[in-house]
Formats: sequence, C-alpha cells, structure tokens
Amino acid sequence: MPVVYLDNAATSFPKPPAVAAAMLRYMQEVGASINRGVYASAQDAELTTLLLREGLCRLLGHSDPAHCVLTAGHTIGLNMILQGWLKPGDHCLVSAMEHNAVMRPLHALAAAGVQFDRIPCDRTGRLDPAGIRRLIRPNTRLVLLAHGSNVSGTVQDAAAAGRICQEYGIPFALDAAQTAGHWEIDFDGWGLSALSVPGHKGLMGPSGIGALLLSPEFANKLTPIITGGTGSASDLEIQPSYMPDRFESGTPNLPGIYGLQAAVEFVEETGIAALRDHETLLTARFLERLRDIPRIRLAGPWDPVNRVGVVSVDFQTIDNAEAASRLEHDYGILTRCGLHCAPAAHKTLGTFPQGTVRFSLGWFTTPEEVDAAASAVAEMVCIAGTLEKR
Ligand SMILES: Cc1ncc(COP(=O)(O)O)c(C=O)c1O
Repeated sequence: MPVVYLDNAATSFPKPPAVAAAMLRYMQEVGASINRGVYASAQDAELTTLLLREGLCRLLGHSDPAHCVLTAGHTIGLNMILQGWLKPGDHCLVSAMEHNAVMRPLHALAAAGVQFDRIPCDRTGRLDPAGIRRLIRPNTRLVLLAHGSNVSGTVQDAAAAGRICQEYGIPFALDAAQTAGHWEIDFDGWGLSALSVPGHKGLMGPSGIGALLLSPEFANKLTPIITGGTGSASDLEIQPSYMPDRFESGTPNLPGIYGLQAAVEFVEETGIAALRDHETLLTARFLERLRDIPRIRLAGPWDPVNRVGVVSVDFQTIDNAEAASRLEHDYGILTRCGLHCAPAAHKTLGTFPQGTVRFSLGWFTTPEEVDAAASAVAEMVCIAGTLEKR
C-alpha cells in the first residue's frame, strides 16, 4: 500500500533533495561556524548564512538582510517577540485562531500583568480587520495574528490589519507558520514590525531553524530574551546592539542553515506563484470531492481562495481519532487528528473538544493522492452508515 503523506501543516515532507545534500556537504566538508574564524570553510559558512538571509528577505518582502534573525525555530521566534516586547501593564491583541505557540507565552505573560484580548473570527476562522479597531486600548502595544490557520487553512487579510495598526501606531506581528513558502508575504508593504517563520513547513527546510524578521525601529526597542557570545565585539561583556548579533547568541544551527538555504533557493526557483497555484488547485479538487460526502463537517471555508491547503474534517458518525487511525492503517493516508495545539481555533470553529482530522497538502502532493484521500473518506463514511443501519 503506497503511503500518502498529508501532514504538511505539521512539517513538510518530502523535502527537495538539495536540502539533505546541502546539510551533508556542511557536515562532511565544511564544519565551521560563522563569526568565529576567517579560514576558507568559515567563509563558506558565512556566505551561505548571508545567502539565506538575503533569500528569506526576498521571499518575505523585507529590504534588509541584517534584520533577518535566524532562530532555533518558529516557537522561539514567537517567544522572542512576546517576551521581549510586552511588559506588565501592556495590552496585546491576538486573533481567536491562535496556536499555543502564541497563547501559552501570552498566558505566562498574563500571570505577570500583561493583558490580552482575542479579536473575534467567524465560524470559518476569518477575522474582520475592523474588529481590531474595536478592541484597541490606550495601552495596546502589540497586535499579533496567525496569518494562516493550522486548523482551518483560513488566511487573514494581513495588509488590512497592518493598515489599522499603522493608523494607531501599534506594532504589528505575524505568525506565518502556515503561509511562509505558500503565499506572497510583504513585510515592508504590510507595515510589519515582526514576522516569524519556521524553516520546516512551507519553506521545505529542516526543523530546528526559523527566522524572525524585524523592522529596524522594533528591533531597536525589542529586548533580546537570550544573550551571550556572538563571536563579535568580544571585548565587551554586554550584548552588541547591532543587527543581527543583538538577537543571535551562541553557535547557530549550521547544518540547518545549509539545509534551509538550499530549501529557500528551491522555493525561489519554483516561485511562490507556482507553489500557491498548485496548492489552490489541489485544495479546490479535494474540497469539491468532500462536498459530496455526507456526515462530515468541514471546519473552515469551502472557498479554495484565501486559504491554504489545510483541510480539517469533523466526522459526524466516526470518532475522529479512529478515522485518522483507519486512514493510516486501511488506506496508507497520514493525517493528524485532535486539536493541533490550537484549542482557541477549535472553539471558534465549533470543533472543541472533539477536534478534527486534518489533511494538509504540500508541493509534492499529487492530484491522485488528493483523490485517494477523498475516496477513503467517502468509503469510511459509507461503511459507518451501513454498519449503523444493521
Ligand atoms: C500557526 C502556527 N503557529 C505556530 C506553530 C509552531 O511552529 P513550530 O512547532 O515549528 O515551532 C505552528 C506549528 O504547527 C503553527 O501552525
């Protein structure tokens, strides 16, 4: 039975072959760190790191590679924004669709006196940007939104949200876990102050590396939550203030840098437009097939536009965990079931506490795989119906 991988929202798989090749080259032929030596292999590492920052900036619409901070992962990038920015007495706005990578740090900050509100979203997970305006207070110091939902695939209108934040002079941050590498992102054009991305999802790189892009103004005021050796300004015992060293302490994940650089090159060569078209076409095809299947509920929008290829299904006559297990064991289809680390999103979508079975598509997903998934869902629902009648 062929395996059909439909868990790309968790982590993309497979990766472009160049990713593993670049990581292997680093491990076998380079081995050096950045900012610490001037020999040839150290310069190789330096150049690869610079190429990565430049590639990420081109992809994400940021004009200054020095403000592209490489992180040890997306959750860390989000914590760097929240913990480094919000102080007791500050107020923060998030959407009603956030992942726990935002909600847990925010609850921890709330225990220390930070306040927050959730901007309401409709039953398809969509936020009306005007809702931001209604919740702004004099002490609102940050608006942070999940750009694309990891539960429903719904993509928010970041440009509109950015305009409102600019109007009130409030820093605007985006969690682009589900959109980086899938959608056009325009850091400068959307007036973003901070943007965190994982390397291992739509960018198709390895895990354990991500990027935090900052505006110069925000970077100047953001407190680094990790300080330490940077290989630069070694005469000083205080953290350098210049970028990106201010936020990059410790020896970085160099195999990850090489892998992500190759991945970003692949994404750029393929083109965001082609990546997005492929995903939209497959999502439309999958949704069209699902529409005809009774006794399932879609958690999210039926319209394939303004969404990514994350399709969550709530089985009405089969337990969702059992459905996911049967998809794997009877059909070879790998999905994720449960709450996907986003209980708030499920409360918005009406799928709390039962959760959903999530099918998430990627660049390497084929139309045949999507059809196989839809047929499996139809067959499972039909079998459950027959058993019920007996
Ligand atoms: C919307 C969203 N935010 C944050 C995260 C956390 O990302 P990571 O586990 O790569 O740190 C995820 C992961 O699924 C996500 O989908």
